[in-house]
Amino acid sequence: MKTPCKIAPSLLSADFANLESEIALLDPSLVDYLHLDVMDGHFVPNITIGPDVVKAIASRTNIPLDVHLMIEKPERFIKQFADAGAHIISVHVEAATHLQRCLQQIRECGCKAGVSLNPATPLEALRYILEDTDLILVMTVNPGFGGQKFIPQMMQKIKDCAALIKNHNIELEVDGGVKISNIKDLYEAGAQVFVSGSEIFSNSPYNDVIRRMRSLLCDR
Ligand code: DX5
Ligand code: ZN
Repeated sequence: MKTPCKIAPSLLSADFANLESEIALLDPSLVDYLHLDVMDGHFVPNITIGPDVVKAIASRTNIPLDVHLMIEKPERFIKQFADAGAHIISVHVEAATHLQRCLQQIRECGCKAGVSLNPATPLEALRYILEDTDLILVMTVNPGFGGQKFIPQMMQKIKDCAALIKNHNIELEVDGGVKISNIKDLYEAGAQVFVSGSEIFSNSPYNDVIRRMRSLLCDR
């Protein structure tokens, strides 16, 4: 039996001048996580939000916050994002020199520990840290921007990742180019958590898009 699927709208494509009202437009009964993209201008060629904005968002919603850290040396900021109200904190394999320690640090702060991989990074990097991981975030575009095209070769990576974690209690999340048109294939490949930015926030009403996605997956 497949695990229930989860939808995580990415606020990166929302109106940054009106985050509170954008979040209010999302029906919490349809949304499992709110995906927040943190970029530092070093690990990725873009800069977005920091702990203060995450804290402000946490004060306006009860939807669990899924914080995706696209920053170098993420261990420097884990406590700040945990204190800001993160539920899940994901760090990149490529950005954390002592990845296992970093994941432990996230759990010690009371959050779920996520690990993210760029498209070119092999799954082999995860083999010895599965016990320390609650969620794997497979990037299906190169991180940094919303609205990019899904990289087709990532479908095989999702299948391989699903096989790797078969006997573990780990969520498999996909991020980048997730659309109504490909979400079913991603689900069939083994993905369970679907991050989607531009597809949701460029098509109003947002809840209709999410309902449509849900209808293509497992209904709750
Ligand atoms: C990209 C971010 C994504 C982004 C996805 O680096 O990690 O979360 O918001 O946007 P879409 O769904 O538009 O590809
Ligand atoms: Zn993301």
